[in-house]
Amino acid sequence: MKSGKDYIVFPLDFPSFGQAEKYVKLLSDRVGMFKIGLELFIREGPEVIRKTRQLSSAGIFLDLKLHDISATVQRAVRSAAELEADLLTVHCASSIRMLEAAVGAGGDKTGILGVTLLTDNDAQTVRESGFSDAYWADPAALVMKRAEMACQAGCAGVVCSGNEVQAVKHRFGADFMAVTPGIRPAGGIGGEDDQKRVCTPGRAVTLGADLIVVGRPIRDAPDPEEAAKEIAAGIDAVIL
Ligand code: C5P
Repeated sequence: MKSGKDYIVFPLDFPSFGQAEKYVKLLSDRVGMFKIGLELFIREGPEVIRKTRQLSSAGIFLDLKLHDISATVQRAVRSAAELEADLLTVHCASSIRMLEAAVGAGGDKTGILGVTLLTDNDAQTVRESGFSDAYWADPAALVMKRAEMACQAGCAGVVCSGNEVQAVKHRFGADFMAVTPGIRPAGGIGGEDDQKRVCTPGRAVTLGADLIVVGRPIRDAPDPEEAAKEIAAGIDAVIL
């Protein structure tokens, strides 16, 4: 059965594997997945996946947020599937055809997560990007539209904020994953930072999140392992 720690995705937001390694060792049994993003992947290359796997049996979430023509995305996802990434992100901002190409290339090795709307986008940036009134008046409508594209294309799920997770699960069903960043434990570290639409771990999971991305509240805690343990316990309290 899925326990509290299995919900936690820890992003390896570090400039080198040398710096990430300590956290992989420390948190290996405390989180469900490690997320490898552009910074570390560009610096270290695919080798970073192999190195992380050598140290931990936690899942690998490759957060490359791909966005290109369908054929290019298809080939890139094929390469990621060969690296045995469990999850890979692709932007929903192009076409259903691109998402379908990604899903086909991921096969049963690599689940595709659609990125709906980046959290540093708000009504103003949506407006400036040329979207119609309906979307800039209500950016959540754009999140739902893109989640619909991802669902139609057969994606494993989407990345969305705690604000949209309930609507996503309600509309697209329990099997369609909602991965939620912007997690801040109540009264914990990271309250005053760049994440605007924040949510506590327990609340995100109660609303239906299948995975929560928790970075700075763990990384910057005096005892990161203890912080991850407390977050897992908070989730256990709402799921058990
Ligand atoms: O918890 P913290 O804010 O430190 O987490 C930062 C991480 O969340 C980064 O790896 C960032 O890429 C990720 N993130 C995301 N999707 C968003 C916003 C942030 O995956 N919409």
